[in-house]
Amino acid sequence: MMNLTLRQLRIFDAVARHLSYSRAAEALHLTQPAVSMQIKQLEDNVGLALFEQLGKKIYLTEPGREFQRHCQTILQQLQEAETMFADFKGMSGKLTICVASTASYFTPHLLAEFCKHHPKAQVSLKVTNREMLLQHLAANDMDMAIMGRPPEGLELDATPFMENRLVIIAPPDHSLAGAHNIPLSRLAEETFLVREQGSGTRIAMERFFAEKGIHLTIGTEMSTNEAIKQAVQAGMGLGILSLHTLSLELESGRLVVLDVQHFPIQRNWYVVHRKGKRLSVVAQAFKDYLRALAAQGTPSGGTMN
Ligand code: PGA
Repeated sequence: MMNLTLRQLRIFDAVARHLSYSRAAEALHLTQPAVSMQIKQLEDNVGLALFEQLGKKIYLTEPGREFQRHCQTILQQLQEAETMFADFKGMSGKLTICVASTASYFTPHLLAEFCKHHPKAQVSLKVTNREMLLQHLAANDMDMAIMGRPPEGLELDATPFMENRLVIIAPPDHSLAGAHNIPLSRLAEETFLVREQGSGTRIAMERFFAEKGIHLTIGTEMSTNEAIKQAVQAGMGLGILSLHTLSLELESGRLVVLDVQHFPIQRNWYVVHRKGKRLSVVAQAFKDYLRALAAQGTPSGGTMN
């Protein structure tokens, strides 16, 4: 019988995901030698190499790849067992949601409403961009995520529940403000402030213009919606953002939405978790709540009150 420890499984899982001893060590709050030693013991134990080093990089060997699959199943089962115990103890009130930064403009409103009906729920909300969200989903270290359409082929369960419209914003004194039906080609004369690589808004925007064959002049890249709004107000360029982020600025007239052909870009928000994940009682309740919103037909922009 192999004599593996859970600690070794968790360490193996982290190294296999990061393909780096140092990054796995960082993620697990361990030292790198501790991680390497556990992997060495694990390999001695199973009698096969699970990683191989080529140059500076490490790779999973074939048995390593197979073992990773088993490992993920074991760790997922364990987490489900924990959830099951918590459900039995009646303290399943913990709900960890990870949202794309753009979704942080409406998620608190949804949670506020949800918590009115589930006052015992202890919610933890992590805000990050789309790329980090995908990493969290791969690590299965939260209940669910709210994000734009996730990529195919990741073994994810994704349910759309609300529209997300991307619009072009300008300061109110911009020469295009108030113009009707602005041709897309006119945008080639403007400079655009864009979100960072890895942002869903950025990906959707790039895809849209590539499909339309328009080459945009990209100005400064900024990692938050707030910074883009401020920079657009300050006259640094135009921006393309989700309508969800703009209610205050549009209401106060500090920014305007331009009437451009083919706009807004229509997207959806999805509630996402790993396929086959056993949701806790409270996580399932939250997912049901989002589905019910979708069935009612929720507002497609602005704050969700
Ligand atoms: P983001 O939004 O741009 O804040 O990453 C996620 C998305 O729209 O998919």
